[in-house]
Amino acid sequence: LNNLLEIGFVPTMGALHFGHISLMKTAQKYNKIVISSIFVNPTQFSQGEDLDKYPRQLEADLDLLKQNDIDAVFIPNFDQIYPGKQLCHVEPSDFSNICEGKARPEFFRGVATIVCKLLNIVQPNNAYFGQKDISQGILIKRMVEDLNIPVDIKICQTIRESDGLAMSSRNAYLNSDERKVSKILYKALNAGRNICDEASSNSSLEMSADRFVSSEAIIETIEAVLRSEPLVTSIEYISVASHKDMKEKNYYSLLNDGLVLSSAVRIGKVRLIDNVLVGNAIEDILFDA
Ligand code: PAF
Repeated sequence: LNNLLEIGFVPTMGALHFGHISLMKTAQKYNKIVISSIFVNPTQFSQGEDLDKYPRQLEADLDLLKQNDIDAVFIPNFDQIYPGKQLCHVEPSDFSNICEGKARPEFFRGVATIVCKLLNIVQPNNAYFGQKDISQGILIKRMVEDLNIPVDIKICQTIRESDGLAMSSRNAYLNSDERKVSKILYKALNAGRNICDEASSNSSLEMSADRFVSSEAIIETIEAVLRSEPLVTSIEYISVASHKDMKEKNYYSLLNDGLVLSSAVRIGKVRLIDNVLVGNAIEDILFDA
């Protein structure tokens, strides 16, 4: 089959929303067959995280996949994926030091291992991931390069609600007051992006390499917007990172640079993450933007 058909793959943990469907629509545009998977992967949840509470709605998910003409869905159970104690895992080096890695120590090893397994089982030509989990997307791109896994990883633009909130299965946990203010995260990240864009557009064409916007200034701008909303109960991190490896950067150079601005906050008790791309990062990372 693999020799005859282009297979596009969209792995998910279920609780499907329009963000997932949009990935599948993109996959349908470029592949003859589109396969999805639904598997809530326990190894990417840290202790105390929301594994038990993670929304599960298989019937509704299957209806949505059917309505959208997805060709096949792989729904393994735990024992099929992890039949015994594993001797081998995919352990990303350095990634536990990046912001999202510090906050969720198990996450990247769990994600890299499950995605590697799913790619080996499904053997797609192309696999699609959302920009919303940008560090996951960058890690998976690097994993398939480093381990020579024969698949093209496509990262597709974040799909947002009309007020700007990034679509996520976890948005279901927000109560109505929290939902109303949750757009603040995207607004804050955009304020950070704006100071980079404004600095770039105000600069003359003969820019020297030492022209930059400091990460401190970007972080202060983002933080000020977040702090203006009392329902933001904590700011876990604000990160200004390279789009190549998610390592923190000290500045945005106005000469040919790319950045990922990302943050994790709690609105009430609900943890939300989001990111925006700046400069070159947009064309370097995004597929079909
Ligand atoms: O982004 C997700 O839903 C999950 O991390 C993934 C890629 C399906 C792996 O479990």
